[in-house]
This record gives sequence, structure tokens and C-alpha cells, in this order.
Amino acid sequence: MTKDLFTPLQLGRLQLPNRILMAPLTRNRAARPGNVPHALNALYYAQRATAGLIITEASPISPTAHGYPATPGIHGAEQVAGWRLVTDAVHEKGGRIYIQLWHVGRISHPSLQPDGALPVAPSAIRPEGQAFTYEGLQDFVTPRALETSEIPALLEDYRNAAKNAFSAGFDGVEIHGANGYLLDQFLRDRSNHRTDAYGGTIENRSRLLREVTAAVSEEIGPDRVGVRISPINPFNDIADSNPQALFEHVAEELSPLGLAYLHVMEGGIGAGESGPTFDFAALRRKFNGNYVANAGYDKVRANAAIADGKADAIAFGVPYIANPDLVERYARNAALNEPDPNTFYGGDEKGYTDYPTL
Ligand code: PHB
Repeated sequence: MTKDLFTPLQLGRLQLPNRILMAPLTRNRAARPGNVPHALNALYYAQRATAGLIITEASPISPTAHGYPATPGIHGAEQVAGWRLVTDAVHEKGGRIYIQLWHVGRISHPSLQPDGALPVAPSAIRPEGQAFTYEGLQDFVTPRALETSEIPALLEDYRNAAKNAFSAGFDGVEIHGANGYLLDQFLRDRSNHRTDAYGGTIENRSRLLREVTAAVSEEIGPDRVGVRISPINPFNDIADSNPQALFEHVAEELSPLGLAYLHVMEGGIGAGESGPTFDFAALRRKFNGNYVANAGYDKVRANAAIADGKADAIAFGVPYIANPDLVERYARNAALNEPDPNTFYGGDEKGYTDYPTL
């Protein structure tokens, strides 16, 4: 039988009714102060509960993990209580929801850090570009390189965030290893110039992602954990001399952990172009488990990828901003609402919870 988006899928502990996943999407609408999820966020996610699985927006694991205004944390008691509103609302509608665990590393600014400290990173290398701060765009600064002795506390922050996610009622967590944030900064040889066990060889540069994944898996069970990577996304001034070898190693080393899935962005943010120089099928071969593909898929390409065995599920980002009932629209071959980029980041219910259903 040919599989498609509507073929159920066992994903870790969850039985998904379809393979249409809501991709993680930063929306900058947490309540201030405290970066706390609230009722409007619960409504937004509950509107999208027919997705096979919702993956929340990226959520900072500790105070130093923040790099943007109004992104909801998963490190404080108030935030856990706020997220509980979200998970309850989604579960009441029959949905399933993972939270994405995030540390931005150097993609931050002292004005977003506790006590105005420097952001942390694998190495003291300033990224090109500017940070989004409460005072507007400001040039990135040269971050402070993490000491080797600080890594255990960082692992503890991830572990603690996973524990919080479990208390908040999430079905699992996705570790954000993509898009030029902290774990991706460790993976790449342009941002990681370390000379300890976390830098140098591909094995050493992937050590932190593996240790984070192992720690989180130990805390809540590997079948409640997914990992997201973005091998060819240059976003946030990221680059590597050999992404193919690097990410094949990552896929191979995560494979035996028994994770719920590997989530691969096969392009840049908002774009679907698979670079001709990257062989994503090799990642699929090296990772023995569910392969979730993302970036620029529409229904036709998604069904083809699943039918051809190139992916087990597809995560949709921008289409989910404008179409809370994306599953029903795909099922009925209905037209999609157009997203309004002016309301992607920040604001209120406009462009957030007011997109019409069929
Ligand atoms: C963003 O806020 O622009 C953002 C956040 C997380 C991502 C990508 C983009 O993974």
C-alpha cells in the first residue's frame, strides 16, 4: 500500500493519526515580564491540534539561552504553569505536542542576558549581523567562550528543561540543533575553534549535541526525544568545511539512541531548495528511525517524499502560520490562506489566532 500524509505513524511513544507535523515557529508573543506562555498562546496551539504532532516554537532552557524578545522559556515555575495551559488546551482537542528546547549561544546580546553579560558560545567569534533586542537591532558582540568546566552545568540546564517540559504536560521534546544556535555553533568548524574535547575533529564537535541528547533521553526516555538539524542552512552566519561528513556522523551517532525522530531542514528558513551538493538520502540511511523532513514542502511534494520512502513525516512551517486547519485543507484539497509576514514576529492575536478555518 502506498503511504502518504494520511497514513498513521508510530513516533516514539505516540501514535500519530497523520504525518503532517507543525514545525517549530518563533512568534515572539510570550507575556512580559518573565517570557511566560499565556491563554492566547494556548488558543493558537489548540487551533492547530489536528496536526499529527505540534512542535512548539523554540523555547529557551535557561536565562542565558535567550536571544530574542518575548520568546517563551521553559526554565522557571511560572513558565511551566503557562505551558500547562498550552498542553492542556491541545490535549483537550485530541492533539499531541512536543516542546523545542533552545539555547541561542552567540545569537544574543548583553541586553537580553542576565546582568548584561556577554552571550556564551563555543569560541569567542562574533557572528556577522545584528541581534533583535528590546531596543531594536544591535550589532552582535564577540561572545565569551564556554570553559570546558561549564559544560556539565549546561547539560544540567537541558536536563532540567526536559524535566520541566514533562511537568508542563508535553508529550516529548525536540532538541534544537539547527539554524546557527548554540549546538549548531559547536558542530561547525567556522564557529567552533576549541582545542578541548568539544572542538577540532568532527567527533569532538558533535560531542555536545550527543551529550545533550543522551542527558535529555536519560531524563524523559529517548522515545520522547527528537533532534533537529539544518545541514545547509547558512542562517546566523554559520558554515562548515564539510557538512556532508559532519552530518552523516551526527546521524550515525544519534541512530543507536532510540530517538522518536530526526528532523532535518533540507533547505534554508522559508525556502525549499535542496542544495545539489548535499545528499540528504545518506542521512536517512544512517539514521535508523523516523526521518522528518522540512522546508518548502507542499502537499504534492510531501506525499511524494513519503511514498518514495524519503521521509516518514513532513513538518510544515509557514503554511501552519496561516492555516490552523492545514490537515483538513490537505484532506479536502482546499485552497490555503496566505500568510502575512508583517505579523510573524510579535504583536497580538492579529495574524496569530485570527486566520479563518474552512
Ligand atoms: C528566529 O527567531 O528568527 C528563529 C528562531 C529559531 C529558529 C530560526 C529562526 O530556529
